[in-house]
Amino acid sequence: MTTYETPVQQTPAQANGGSSQALVLDAARRAAAYVDGIRDRSVVPTPQALARLQELCEPLPEAPTSPETVLELLDEIGSPATIATTGGRYFGFIIGGTVPAALAANILAAAWDQNVALRSMSPIGAALEDVALDWLRDLLSLPSGCAGSLVSGATMANFTCIAAARTSLLKRLGWDVESQGLFGAPSVTVVVSEEVHASVRKALAFVGFGRDRVVAVPTDGQGRMRVECFPKLDSPSLICIQAGNVNTGSLDPAGDICALAKSSGSWVHVDGALGLWAACSPGLQHLLAPFANADSWAADAHKWLNVPYECGVAFVREAETLYRAMNVEASYLPAGVQRDPMRWTPEMSQRARGVAVWAALKSLGRSGVRDIIERTCRLARLFASRLEDAGFEILTDVVLNQVLVSFGSDDLTRAVTEALQKEGTCWCSGSVWHGRACMRISVSSWATTELDVSRSADTIVHIAKECRA
Ligand SMILES: Cc1ncc(COP(=O)(O)O)c(C=O)c1O
Repeated sequence: MTTYETPVQQTPAQANGGSSQALVLDAARRAAAYVDGIRDRSVVPTPQALARLQELCEPLPEAPTSPETVLELLDEIGSPATIATTGGRYFGFIIGGTVPAALAANILAAAWDQNVALRSMSPIGAALEDVALDWLRDLLSLPSGCAGSLVSGATMANFTCIAAARTSLLKRLGWDVESQGLFGAPSVTVVVSEEVHASVRKALAFVGFGRDRVVAVPTDGQGRMRVECFPKLDSPSLICIQAGNVNTGSLDPAGDICALAKSSGSWVHVDGALGLWAACSPGLQHLLAPFANADSWAADAHKWLNVPYECGVAFVREAETLYRAMNVEASYLPAGVQRDPMRWTPEMSQRARGVAVWAALKSLGRSGVRDIIERTCRLARLFASRLEDAGFEILTDVVLNQVLVSFGSDDLTRAVTEALQKEGTCWCSGSVWHGRACMRISVSSWATTELDVSRSADTIVHIAKECRA
């Protein structure tokens, strides 16, 4: 018998790089140091750290660089130039941190590098996604038979759900939108809130319904749709409501709207990027219960659930409709007996998002998620009362974890927000609420403590007094 000797060959990257085990350990050590130091750092990068970003701007290198040098550059120049969103005092936009188990799982999953398009490509990725989606359905009190998928964020979750709504509504009108497209299709009325999130309008544009071809229902002072202003619907329509206004956190009156929708056979979609998570708190559940009567739901796991970017969740009551809207077939893609993630999402190739979601939920348990939701809501109320006690105006009710504050005139409010963003103790966004400039505080991170809020409120009050003077 002939034996063949396998020549030992190194790839160019191996040749100039040492062992990948040492490299991965070095990356883990650097990541751990970053995590350790994040609480003591300014939330914004220093001007020196930002200036060093220039060092990365060079023409495409002709020659290779060792992986050790690449990692060192990334850590020395990149780490100080991050925004410290995971440190507990970042209150901008709606940005969660990362719970430790999800962070660690994400690091391991990066080494796995799984493509979970088909179950056969990643049995572990698909299995964890199945479990994670079951747990999420339970946690969010959604119907047990609804279909779910993990996507890149709430924008894509809104898109996924609205595409399913389009399939269902047009099918009822005798139109197969998947094969025939929209030219010549029956018209579908789309109802949104005056306060609809920009991502829903973006999703409406993607599916061919149009950003602006909508009936926008007026809202009240908290940003909730006014049911009495609803248009009369005499054909199956798409109604987009929200659980958690991006500014105020307020929730639309889902019970009344779902009842209205039933009489016209309409589809109710919930943008619950932020607020759907409140369903897991016994104290807030009554606000969320009516949303379970809707037809589809979008939420963001990378916000309040505190898993790493990017991770959104889409759920659709009619499982077969989501499948019809998203499925793809090709001769080289064997149809599995079990669920293949790509048949339920806009993407084909996709990373195994279920790993971090599973890890977060396994480590926190139901009580841990409830604790994050209830604690951050309590800390938002603490923020509001500290600022109100200092003489500043809280513009709306604090229903979840969002606070809007004015420091007086619009110019002064903008000046305070800008000065705070430069100072570095904490970071809050600016926004405009019903024509008035405001500072927008979102307490979304598991890492935020009472001490963080106290220190941040002291800083805001101090800066506001300085700006006023
Ligand atoms: C209510 C609402 N919907 C949708 C989105 C979009 O989410 P993402 O940026 O994850 O796509 C956001 C983001 O803040 C939001 O607050």
